[in-house]
Amino acid sequence: MKKTLATAAGIVLIALSGSAFADEQLEIGQKIYERAFGRGCGTCHDIASNPQLPANIKAGTLTRASFEKILKEGKGGMPVAIAEIMKNKAVEKAGYGEDQAVDALFAYISSK
Ligand code: HEC
Repeated sequence: MKKTLATAAGIVLIALSGSAFADEQLEIGQKIYERAFGRGCGTCHDIASNPQLPANIKAGTLTRASFEKILKEGKGGMPVAIAEIMKNKAVEKAGYGEDQAVDALFAYISSK
């Protein structure tokens, strides 16, 4: 019985830390989205004539790999963004590397 309780408590703890991680990731993704280039990605991307990122992710036309490539290389009117992302205060504070920061931003945009 005691063992069962301990196991149950362990499972609850693991579940809680998993969701705390997901919350932190989305929060950091949101901060990048709102603050990159001082005005956020949305100044351009929340305008209908520019690519609609959440819709493109949902449609499967914008993958995690192409997302990362565009952030690192830019494309037409899209500026190179990786340096901006890495100097975001929330990213620095969390000690995220490039992969983690791009994951967080991708997760946030996917959740929009
Ligand atoms: C100055 C305006 C501007 C800002 C700021 C901007 N973008 Fe863009 N972005 C564009 C434009 C314009 C395109 C379309 C480029 C093309 O296809 O020639 C684009 C394209 C993209 C694409 C490719 C979309 C697709 O489905 O092909 C991604 C991904 C993207 N931007 C992500 C971001 C993210 C993330 C940020 C914030 C870190 C950001 N952009 C900030 C203007 C901007």
